[in-house]
Amino acid sequence: MKYLNRRQFVSRSSSLAATVAVPTLAGIGCTEAKMDEADLSAKESIHAQAKKGGLQFGAAILASQLKNDRAFREAVIRECGVLTHENELKWATLQNRENQEYNFSKADYIVDFAEEHNMAVRGHTLVWHLGYPKYLDQTVNPKSGRDIMVAHIEELSKHYAGRMHSWDVVNEAIDIKYEREDGLAETLWFKAMGEEYLDIAFETAHKADPKALMVYNENGLVYGRERHDKKRKAVLDLLKRRLSNNIPLDALGIQSHLSIGQHPFERDKFVGFLNDVADLGLRIYITELDVRDTHGPADIATRDQLVADEYKRFMEIIVDHPAVDMIVTWGLSDKYTWINEWAPRLDGLPARPLPLDHKMRRKKGWDVIVESLEARQKNDL
Ligand code: G3I
Repeated sequence: MKYLNRRQFVSRSSSLAATVAVPTLAGIGCTEAKMDEADLSAKESIHAQAKKGGLQFGAAILASQLKNDRAFREAVIRECGVLTHENELKWATLQNRENQEYNFSKADYIVDFAEEHNMAVRGHTLVWHLGYPKYLDQTVNPKSGRDIMVAHIEELSKHYAGRMHSWDVVNEAIDIKYEREDGLAETLWFKAMGEEYLDIAFETAHKADPKALMVYNENGLVYGRERHDKKRKAVLDLLKRRLSNNIPLDALGIQSHLSIGQHPFERDKFVGFLNDVADLGLRIYITELDVRDTHGPADIATRDQLVADEYKRFMEIIVDHPAVDMIVTWGLSDKYTWINEWAPRLDGLPARPLPLDHKMRRKKGWDVIVESLEARQKNDL
């Protein structure tokens, strides 16, 4: 499968943010020596560096963070060319009682903000087995499930038709804990419609918004344990089966929630998987990148270095793969990360998983992301 090169594909896939004129480091005499604060300002932003190489970079955020935190808002405007709603487009955030009118106000704020700042928007997510209103547990069944799911997809897709770069149409359909041969998660949607719920979801979303790119989003695909091997195979097999039905599917979203000291990283396995996905004719988006430091040392300098090392190992592969078009981190600043709620450190210290610290200062993780993007640009894929 001959890959489109990045520049050919990027012009096809979305209206990118306006070109950002960025002074090259060489142009202002920066050396390889350690950057001090002044030098770092010469590196315009992750988004600007990514854009120079035909990649899009952004982050998942909450409307409240943009509205209420000026420093964070300015950091988002500087560093991002793409925004994803962390929670505002989840069903339970839009509606929590049956027949209640959807409240799009928070989600609209993010889409309006993105358009005002010439950023693309990724819709997350149309069909998932979490983040939905609990009344669905009583109402979704084999007789009603299709109509309920279709109505929800149409409600969101039509509301934003023409404004979304892409939708995570289905999120996390595979979960090997169900020990099924096909690896499918036995969710309320699967129980109601079988595996075909994916086809129905993609076809409904594409019909409601033909301009948006259609993405299947999944976690647990990066590392080298047996369970990651099984998940990569199950995802590839699922994609092949659905694509054989000619569903409108443009890209695989690889969430990429990394962690320090937890799992072996086997480069060949991951690169081989990226190649297999690309051979299906799909593009690849990194959709939820962060590095969990829950089990890392307390010392900040040591922990930040370990997080940066994990970003570097991952980014060196990503920036060099011609099928990858986008990198989105799950949050931008340590001030706002899901990890403090979902995987808190035993010592109670705040997590430091993201490129900016809680005061929006660039960390070593920021450095290695930008440096890997610079290296990619030199390779000019
Ligand atoms: O807004 C309500 C609030 O009104 C209520 O008082 C409070 C207590 O129950 O809950 C609040 O909602 C929480 C929501 O985040 C907003 O903070 C939910 O309980 C909580 O479950 C939800 O967690 C989110 C989680 O997805 C589940 O939707 C995380 O913030 C979010 O980072 C996480 O993101 C997921 C992606 O969508 C899919 N991939 C994995 C990723 C990380 O788990």
